[in-house]
Amino acid sequence: MQLFSAAASPFVRKVLVLAHETGLIERLELEPVTISPISPDARLNAGNPVGKIPSLMLDDGSALYDSPVICEYLDSLDHDGPRMFPGGEARWVALRRQALADGIMDAAVLCRYEAALRPEPLRWDEWASNQQAKISRALDALEADADGIAGTIDVGAIAIGCALGYLDFRFADNDWRRGRPKLAAWYEGFAQRPSMQQTRPPAG
Ligand code: BEZ
Repeated sequence: MQLFSAAASPFVRKVLVLAHETGLIERLELEPVTISPISPDARLNAGNPVGKIPSLMLDDGSALYDSPVICEYLDSLDHDGPRMFPGGEARWVALRRQALADGIMDAAVLCRYEAALRPEPLRWDEWASNQQAKISRALDALEADADGIAGTIDVGAIAIGCALGYLDFRFADNDWRRGRPKLAAWYEGFAQRPSMQQTRPPAG
């Protein structure tokens, strides 16, 4: 299976961490793409019309996207690790955590594009503040949920780990740990997992 990817993307990292945790990583062939909102990639668009990464090309030539779908697909394959999408009530908790963490990643990646790509005269401060407020509210919700997150290894925990890792990577100056001691303590341990260590974003 070919995974269209970019090493800096937290959504790609989520898929890779899950692939490590399930022992499926060797089955993924990484296909790096350099995309931005203004430079699409024709190979990626051929399989995924909205041109987003990650996108997974299956051996039959069809594509799966985006990260929640790819993660659930990988977990549906035979693997030796724990189930990443639990059953029963725990499923909805894991999916909600994934959605919350994906929301942090969405807002943070948009802010990154705004700061790194959008020409200065076209920037919209109010819009950026609103994205930061979404991130802040989501982090507060995760702090309140930290006791529940502790000890779980599933798609929700993985998504949260990747969202926090992306904030450290791109927004190290905005200290998300301030006022959120439980979440910070949880991340301290989670970030040491081999799956997180082996998928750290590149410098720069
Ligand atoms: C980044 O450089 O921060 C980035 C690159 C690709 C996707 C998302 C984020």
